[in-house]
Amino acid sequence: MLKPIKIKEDFYYVGVNDRTKALFENLWPLPKGVSYNSYVILDEKTALFDTVDICYSDIFFQKLDSALNGRSLDYLIINHMEPDHSGSIGLLKNRFPNIQIIGNKRTADMVKGFYNIDKDVTIIEDGSELLLGKHNLKFYLTPMVHWPETMMTYETTNKILFSGDAFGTFGTLDGGIIDAQLHPERYYDEMVRYYSNIVGKFGSPVQKALEKLSQLDLKYICSTHGPVWTLDDQIKKIVSIYNKLSKYEGDEGVVIAYGSMYGHTEQMAEVIAYELAQQGIKEIILHNVSKRSHSYIIRDIFKYKGLIVGSPTYNNKLYPEIEALLSKIENRDMKNRYFGYFGSFTWAGAAVKRLAEFADGSKFEIIGTPVEMKQAMTEDNYQACLALGKSMADRLKQDR
Ligand SMILES: Cc1cc2nc3c(=O)[nH]c(=O)nc-3n(C[C@H](O)[C@H](O)[C@H](O)COP(=O)(O)O)c2cc1C
Ligand SMILES: [Fe+2]
Ligand SMILES: [Fe+2]
Repeated sequence: MLKPIKIKEDFYYVGVNDRTKALFENLWPLPKGVSYNSYVILDEKTALFDTVDICYSDIFFQKLDSALNGRSLDYLIINHMEPDHSGSIGLLKNRFPNIQIIGNKRTADMVKGFYNIDKDVTIIEDGSELLLGKHNLKFYLTPMVHWPETMMTYETTNKILFSGDAFGTFGTLDGGIIDAQLHPERYYDEMVRYYSNIVGKFGSPVQKALEKLSQLDLKYICSTHGPVWTLDDQIKKIVSIYNKLSKYEGDEGVVIAYGSMYGHTEQMAEVIAYELAQQGIKEIILHNVSKRSHSYIIRDIFKYKGLIVGSPTYNNKLYPEIEALLSKIENRDMKNRYFGYFGSFTWAGAAVKRLAEFADGSKFEIIGTPVEMKQAMTEDNYQACLALGKSMADRLKQDR
């Protein structure tokens, strides 16, 4: 039988690791897996904070049973209803028929819809409290981080924030589950990827949530994915990562995302990158959109202020993978980016026109003169690519 991991007196981790799933949400690669975190507090009343993906319910229940050690479970606190956390609710209810489910009114609607449960559901409001004994819980509604029912629960006695997906990361917990037990910096990039892929569109609700939390003294941040954050400097670090990402603030650097079938458009990308480096820009990331999962491209677009997109013309349209990437960028309401673009064709160009439409519809500042190349690189094209690189570098350097 698997056992829970003690975090503190009366407070246990009962989450699980997923090293099997290839794509989170069937979209985002999981090379380092992902954890679904669930926690339990044992007090006069017992409370569970979220469940796990149903694929892992067996291991989860082994840990939970062991933590409860024969006691019953009084409360399930639902901070988020996405099935990677709510998946085991039906089974939990069968196991503990008298359990009280705690959520807001949007949670209740989803509990009924997904699991056909409407008995023993207590609806809480923003700021409502629930006393477990020594431990007191206070609920904060944080809608649209990244679903409408999302909320966070703050345990006021030990200052534990159960934050749902917020501050979550991809990557399993391999032994250590608390930041002090591991190298937390290994999770930062996976936190940025998680945020940009999953939560990215909801910068303004995340800002509202951070504002609400700013009054709280946080000693533990218990997200539903990735490590438990307990060290002061780590808590500051992850809050600042979230603050920056949700304001769409990027660092100095440029992502050049290009599509290319036979290498001509790629050559343009190389020339632009060359000039950026000549101009002293050190963070330059070329992404071949057909080779690199868009998950990582989106992550890097969230990290850096400069974005340059290049595409061949394909059946009178953009190259399909570029179209797909642009749709992901639009879907995330990206802002505060410097945007340049280029493209190629052989008989009638369409890619640059479509990129111009995208640029005009975006909230980006358009940089330099777009470059359009026919068939193969001419001296004029070469110079135009250098000029585009230079314009981008100049713009970035103004912000230094
Ligand atoms: C399947 C396919 C469809 C294409 N459709 C068009 C087109 O509609 N209009 C055009 O001018 N060129 C078209 N081209 C030519 C490419 O846009 C052009 O050769 C481009 O420079 C290729 O860039 P690359 O070498 O980076 O792949 C097409 C090429 C392929 C392979
Ligand atoms: Fe989620
Ligand atoms: Fe999640």
